[in-house]
Amino acid sequence: MKDRLQAIKEEALSQIQEAGMLDRLNEVRVNFLGKKGELTGLLKSMKNIPPEERPAFGQLVNETRAQIEEALEETKKKLEQKALEEKLKAEVIDVTLPAKKNNVGHRHPNTIAREEVERIFVGMGYEVVEGPEVEYDLYNFEKLNIPANHPAKDEQDTFYITKDIVLRTQTSPVQARVMEQGKLPIRMIAPGRVFRSDEVDATHSPSFHQIEGLVVDKNITFSDLKGTLEQFAKELSGENTKTKFRPHHFPFTEPSAEVDVSCFKCGGKGCRFCKGSGWIEILGCGMVHPHVLEMCGIDPEEYTGFAFGVGLERIALLKYEIDDMRLLYENDIRFLKQF
Ligand code: DAH
Repeated sequence: MKDRLQAIKEEALSQIQEAGMLDRLNEVRVNFLGKKGELTGLLKSMKNIPPEERPAFGQLVNETRAQIEEALEETKKKLEQKALEEKLKAEVIDVTLPAKKNNVGHRHPNTIAREEVERIFVGMGYEVVEGPEVEYDLYNFEKLNIPANHPAKDEQDTFYITKDIVLRTQTSPVQARVMEQGKLPIRMIAPGRVFRSDEVDATHSPSFHQIEGLVVDKNITFSDLKGTLEQFAKELSGENTKTKFRPHHFPFTEPSAEVDVSCFKCGGKGCRFCKGSGWIEILGCGMVHPHVLEMCGIDPEEYTGFAFGVGLERIALLKYEIDDMRLLYENDIRFLKQF
């Protein structure tokens, strides 16, 4: 039996030495130490030796087992080290390879246009403020002179959250919020997202952006409104830009107007871009309605004001001569990085 044990040990150690790979080493372990391995088999045949010799023989088997295990462990470490070295050798870094290009993001045309409008008005002393996109019906309609059942409500059919809360259809509610704070005078613009239940097409989207403007002070007149917006148009699309104020109706301003600018593409002669008219509509405006001032806690006898609302996408489309608004929302980087 002892000879047999010795033979097993020698065989195991020699196989361990020859195992060049970790897989093979594991096979050797199973063959000798596994449940059906040679050493285990030898233990099972202990019943064939006299009982008084069993303890000594058992100890011998255990010693052999320990020696084999030690050899396995040592070789495993060596093989792992060797594998690592080979891997590192194979992975030599070629520092002469060109570096991977780092793609830096790009500002969206809407953002560029918004920052441009902000720059112009901040330059005239305006403050940039924000209002909530989820708004009370009270601010979106009531305080802007659009009571329940007013036909103007239909034109801006909105998304209702509850009976009293809507996704704002315009940035105009920010006017009411700022006036209510009671700090006068006011010179502010309020850019932001608005929502209407519109079908998507080249010029409509259920979600778009506006920039609201509001000035309230003593002795503000329609000439201030005209002068301000003329200056804005010139800074936006060039010194030679002409403006045209067409009478219009908005419930919260009186009088109200829509403003067209001379087509920056053809200079007013008429082209595909301005649909032959020479003019492009860019905003709505007017003198803040006395009733609106009153509802927001401002005395209309003492203070007057003007307001305007610009469609941001409109400005972006004009600035970059884009003829389909949907392109702005598709987030195709090939399109966006052109601006
Ligand atoms: N809120 C209006 C709209 O969405 C635009 C507008 C018109 C805003 C006249 C104004 C204004 O502040 O005075 O159609």
